[in-house]
Amino acid sequence: MPASRSAGLETLGRARLASGTLGPVPQDLSAVGWPVRTERLRIRRATPHDLDATWSFRRLPEVGEWVTWTAEDGDRYAEQFLDPGRLASTLVVERDGRVIGDLMVRIEDAWAQGEVAAHAVGVQAELGWSLDPQYAGQGYATEAVAELLRICFEELGLRRVVALCFADNTASWRLMERVGMRRESHNVGDSLHRSGRWLDGYGYALLAEEWRRQRDR
Ligand SMILES: CC(C)(COP(=O)(O)OP(=O)(O)OC[C@H]1O[C@@H](n2cnc3c(N)ncnc32)[C@H](O)[C@@H]1OP(=O)(O)O)[C@@H](O)C(=O)NCCC(=O)NCCS
Repeated sequence: MPASRSAGLETLGRARLASGTLGPVPQDLSAVGWPVRTERLRIRRATPHDLDATWSFRRLPEVGEWVTWTAEDGDRYAEQFLDPGRLASTLVVERDGRVIGDLMVRIEDAWAQGEVAAHAVGVQAELGWSLDPQYAGQGYATEAVAELLRICFEELGLRRVVALCFADNTASWRLMERVGMRRESHNVGDSLHRSGRWLDGYGYALLAEEWRRQRDR
């Protein structure tokens, strides 16, 4: 790049940093006033007491089929569920006081060039979900994830959310599309299923400005 163009970009970058248009560094999940209620659901941070309630559906083969981690037994599940990092990024979804699903919100850094990397810290989140099959097909996951997007953008001030799934996990990517997420990638044979098969993966995302446009439509 010619020196003059490079200097111009640096000046522009410095101006954006100074004006704050690169955005504030968001807070973590503790910044939200939990629990959050929707029309039919209550969403709150998970606690160690949610171990048994989540295991009751997480143990089912139809729930375990596509998720990142399954556990062969309750002890192993307890180890995973109670891991402080995982617990801190887990929410539970309640219907009439009963835990019917869980959500993951893993706040992470965006990729950035070195000079501006401090402004890309904690600006996006990877989302995940699972629902007790007894409660499937009634729009509960849609209601919970739609609210989660509002929390991410309005309350946590994130600029982007992403979610990943196996292409064969139709229920999951249809959910992403119902809540307005956009398919960004179709990765061919990139994801190893525990069956030993390399499968296609989809990446979905949504930017804060896209979410606002959808909300205001
Ligand atoms: C992914 C998962 C949460 C989706 O659950 P779901 O029941 O399909 O999603 P919802 O609760 O939003 O329900 C949507 C269904 O209810 C119907 N529905 C009924 N009332 C509705 C309402 N008020 N709003 C939206 N949908 C409604 C929809 O038409 C849809 O039915 P369809 O699948 O026949 O089209 C669930 O399949 C699951 O837990 N899978 C296992 C774990 C998993 O794969 N996690 C993701 C790993 S990437």
